[in-house]
Amino acid sequence: TNEQRALLTIFGASGDLAKRKLYPSLFRLYRKGYLNEHFAVIGTARREWTQETFQEIVASSIQALHPTEQELQSFIRHFYYQALNVSEPEQYAALKTLATQLDETYHLAGNQLFYLAMAPQFFGTIAGHLHSENIVTPNGFHRLIIEKPFGSDYHSAEQLNEEIRSVFDEDDIFRIDHYLGKEMVQNISAVRFGNNIFESLWNHKYIDNVQVTLAESLGVEERGGYYDQSGALKDMVQNHILQIVALLAMEAPTVFTDKNIRYEKIKALESIRLYTEQEAQKNFVRGQYAEGKLGAKEFSSYQDEPNVNPRSTTETFVAGKLLIDNFRWKGVPFYIRTGKRLTEKGTRIHIVFKPTPINVFREANAPIDENDTGLRNVLTIYIQPTEGFSLTLNGKTIGGDYQLRPIKLDYRHSSDTLDNTPEAYEKLLLDALKGDATNFTHWDEVAQSWRIVDIIRQAWDSQPEVDFPNYASGTMGPDAAFELLERDGFQWVWQPDNWYREHN
Ligand code: BG6
Repeated sequence: TNEQRALLTIFGASGDLAKRKLYPSLFRLYRKGYLNEHFAVIGTARREWTQETFQEIVASSIQALHPTEQELQSFIRHFYYQALNVSEPEQYAALKTLATQLDETYHLAGNQLFYLAMAPQFFGTIAGHLHSENIVTPNGFHRLIIEKPFGSDYHSAEQLNEEIRSVFDEDDIFRIDHYLGKEMVQNISAVRFGNNIFESLWNHKYIDNVQVTLAESLGVEERGGYYDQSGALKDMVQNHILQIVALLAMEAPTVFTDKNIRYEKIKALESIRLYTEQEAQKNFVRGQYAEGKLGAKEFSSYQDEPNVNPRSTTETFVAGKLLIDNFRWKGVPFYIRTGKRLTEKGTRIHIVFKPTPINVFREANAPIDENDTGLRNVLTIYIQPTEGFSLTLNGKTIGGDYQLRPIKLDYRHSSDTLDNTPEAYEKLLLDALKGDATNFTHWDEVAQSWRIVDIIRQAWDSQPEVDFPNYASGTMGPDAAFELLERDGFQWVWQPDNWYREHN
């Protein structure tokens, strides 16, 4: 059987993440039989909730999955609540009593998964108290899942890591990057290592440039308070984008296990060039959204958002060029960008191949024009909201002479419409229950990502203040983001996702 056996303790049980992602994911696992009789969940938060209130919260957060009355009742009776101020060690006694009792009732073999879904300044404290107050049982496994942000720069991340590592082993720490739970992010490895036609071309000899875009149409919404302190570089580049780049750039693992993959990803991240301040200023641009229009909707500027400093200089957009100094990638730019209030929600990867060496279809005796080489082949990986691949090829125009025309091979499905595409959090929770760390980030990856990002942050901080806002809501970011590629003779390949529009 696939049934997992564990006590899951969620810190931050009243929070947005728990309600939007964790409870629905647990329910999906329950429905599929991964969780059955042998599991219990303890929710903790500051407020004094009763058991009933907590169960009602859980019930309402899974409404969208349409549980039957019987499913609902048998699911929520596994949920228990314990009010806790995480900074007060003496308050952990009640948690321990409850944990011990549930372990016996549900026969959990001492297995414990702790999920820290709250403000990061408490991570170290909680991890410490879990040990000092003997919540961690001697038998079974005891694993810690940690939400981002993992630090706010290299030093704070290292300090946090030391606090946690003094009580949990690296192998028991599961640092979440929810992009790694996305079906199509996992598919990057499938495409690369399952298809010789791509992997044999996956290097500087055949690839011109790689483009990674994580575009969002939403603004900062309710999260102005957090976001204004963070900005797009730390919110998206340090984690999600660098993880995607690592998966695109890494060497083939000997075999697809968590240890081997981590090893290759770390090597790839360590090959990313650490820029000087000047290089960082040249190769990274930032933006902040102004008011603008998206379709019929009008949006206010970032500086007018709730809980944002009205003169904020926080970036809501980043574009940059990364260079990877190794045999495989010498000289191939990896262009990355992410931003809020862009034209559409879309995470896409474009692998732009080099043109053919010469255009043999040119007129006889015509001089060779270096720029006349037909369209470049582009492999697009659609991560979300549509999932799939497309490959553009050159074919012959029908009838007539040997003139080239682009042909697109397109495979797509919509993650929104396919019910059985597992949610990222569902997969990651199951992985953590099974002890599979493949899709979590190792400390060495986090550390190297901060080193890369810290330099960019410092380079920006030492520049004279930029004139924000500098892009209108509903556009694809500031002009500088386009100039970044034009300077190198390239362009963003991005096109609106018509497939999505037609199918939704
Ligand atoms: C989070 C960021 O990590 O990822 C958010 O903090 C962002 O700012 C979100 O909106 C995007 O995730 P997804 O899964 O909606 O692409």
